[in-house]
Amino acid sequence: MITFTLNGSAVSVDAPGDMPLLWVVRDLLGLTGTKFGCGMALCGACTVHLDGEAVRSCTLPVSAIGTRAVTTIEAVGGTPAGRKIQDAWIALDVVQCGYCQPGQVMSAAALLTVKPRPTDADIDAAMAGNICRCGTYPRIRAAIKHAAGEA
Ligand code: FES
Ligand code: FES
Repeated sequence: MITFTLNGSAVSVDAPGDMPLLWVVRDLLGLTGTKFGCGMALCGACTVHLDGEAVRSCTLPVSAIGTRAVTTIEAVGGTPAGRKIQDAWIALDVVQCGYCQPGQVMSAAALLTVKPRPTDADIDAAMAGNICRCGTYPRIRAAIKHAAGEA
């Protein structure tokens, strides 16, 4: 059994240590908000937080979590930055098909936590790994600035 902290609670799973965290949260724990896109850390759809830092769960073995706390899209609204980001996403109607959006929100929330007033360069650096086939990038940028109180 592997035990770790997920969305504020201790969870135990009967999983091989090399199983990606994405598989664990979706298939073993039933939290399907985190999406599978590429499975190769190239698209960002699977982004979760480890101690507040955005990471790609599709390539992170569950045994590598250790004592770090995992937060998924299901609970990020309980953090101050996550709440602001989700409110801004709704206010600016960011979402198109939605598939990439949990990952976008997780990366944006991690950014806002460490950079409450992010510059365009900060946004570029934080969001570059999150791909959106629908091309919602302008609204994502605007929503991050909205959440930061700049627009
Ligand atoms: S599914 Fe993890 S980065 Fe694409
Ligand atoms: S909203 Fe469709 S892939 Fe981003």
